[in-house]
Amino acid sequence: MSAACPKLRFHDYQPELASFRSAVLQGLARDNKWIPPKFFYDQRGSLLFEAILEQPEYYLPKVERQLLQTHAAEMAELIGPGSVLIEPGSGNCEKVRLLLAALSPAAYVPMDISGDFLFTSAHELGTDFPRLPIYATCLDFTHTMNLPGNVPDGRRVLFFPGSSLGNFEPVEAQHFLLRAGRLVGAGGGLLIGMDRKKDKRVLEAAYNDRAGITADFNLNLLARINQQLDGDFDLDAFAHYACYNELLGRIEMHLTSLKLQLVEVAGQSFQFLAGERIHTENSYKYDPAEFVALAQTAGFRNCRFWTDETGQFGIYYLVFPHD
Ligand SMILES: C[S@@+](CC[C@H](N)C(=O)[O-])C[C@H]1O[C@@H](n2cnc3c(N)ncnc32)[C@H](O)[C@@H]1O
Repeated sequence: MSAACPKLRFHDYQPELASFRSAVLQGLARDNKWIPPKFFYDQRGSLLFEAILEQPEYYLPKVERQLLQTHAAEMAELIGPGSVLIEPGSGNCEKVRLLLAALSPAAYVPMDISGDFLFTSAHELGTDFPRLPIYATCLDFTHTMNLPGNVPDGRRVLFFPGSSLGNFEPVEAQHFLLRAGRLVGAGGGLLIGMDRKKDKRVLEAAYNDRAGITADFNLNLLARINQQLDGDFDLDAFAHYACYNELLGRIEMHLTSLKLQLVEVAGQSFQFLAGERIHTENSYKYDPAEFVALAQTAGFRNCRFWTDETGQFGIYYLVFPHD
């Protein structure tokens, strides 16, 4: 706690470096090389993602912010006062501010894997909302979303903006929603922002911004491996590649090797052919009916849906019913 944020607490369950090492070594040993996107987010990765949010081609945050702003009062009424708002992958904690103008929760629990960035973001929020109890929790939400023991009672509502659920394979997304249902319990809620399927050109432009920030964000994964796992990736020998896979309804991000090369990581050697890729992220897009069907398989019931005029993005409020 600090004088500026009397009600901020920080709980640190940051994953060990060993989990990063084993994911990278296993991922690079596969025929189709793959490193999960959660490893993008060291401090520099979080700052680069914040810069992506401001890119003109990246329509998602602008449309979502607009929807939150326009419908905050209705959302706040559905969530109700005195609730505990839990945000996995809270990033810079900016979107919740739009709700806080209309909502008086008993507590806010931002959760993120990027510890220092979470601490700074929660501190900035706590400075602006000094009466809001904040339980900032550094964790990997693919492993646990347990709340710290001192979080007050109150109806639990998961706030999951940014279409972050789209980073999961659909079956993993269903498992995440099942865990979310158990976390919020009977009568709890889920307010979730999901990107929609749309024109391939719009989607591909969003993940290939002209300023090259998404490319830097993607390549930063290799810089992180070099720094933390004693790697020797030559960042100039890899290129960012993002495309929309229409069949699977997902944006894919990859890093393409520009030549035949050997790379060392944590004492192990990996060969890359020219043109070979490391798959680093999927971002599944959902039509509203598809998303509602997915949430229903996890036990949620659809309550309310908001979208923009051109149908780019959707925000859903769902409840986890009593038996
Ligand atoms: C796509 S960004 C979204 C940020 C923010 N919610 C928004 O809408 O702007 C994903 C956020 O989730 C965090 N994150 C990604 N994987 C995570 C994981 N497995 N556990 C906890 N946080 C994670 C990242 O650090 C990042 O802040």
